[in-house]
Amino acid sequence: MKKLSLLTVIACLAMFIYSCKAKKGGTEVSLAPGDAELKAIQVKFPDATAQTLSEGYGVYTGACTNCHGKKNMLKHTEEDWKKDIDRMSPRAKITDAQKDALWKYVLSIRAARGTAK
Ligand code: HEC
Repeated sequence: MKKLSLLTVIACLAMFIYSCKAKKGGTEVSLAPGDAELKAIQVKFPDATAQTLSEGYGVYTGACTNCHGKKNMLKHTEEDWKKDIDRMSPRAKITDAQKDALWKYVLSIRAARGTAK
């Protein structure tokens, strides 16, 4: 009986650790910009490159998540994002170039996966 409950505890722990990892991995993958995002953003910004998007992605998953988690890019409107990025950039202490890359990154995710808002 004692042995069984110890096994149960170990199994629960393993499942817990696994689910945390799976969740983290899944989020990273789904937020990374790829070909679809690049094509989608180039409709609006023809000069955007894969480099631009990966820089924006780096800012978003780095400086922007120092204080809070990742925000739902599809839930907020484009207008809200514009205001929030203007508001948050000084807090994140990012350069104008990083801010520009972040803006294009957010729009690329929205354009490829989101709503037309
Ligand atoms: C110094 C801490 C800090 C940093 C860095 C920061 N934020 Fe925030 N952010 C906050 C706080 C606090 C709030 C909630 C209060 C508010 O809206 O002002 C917030 C709110 C937001 C919101 C809207 C609130 C919501 O969930 O409806 C968005 C979107 C957002 N942040 C995005 C960003 C982005 C993008 C960056 C990177 C440029 C960033 N934040 C960097 C502290 C920070």
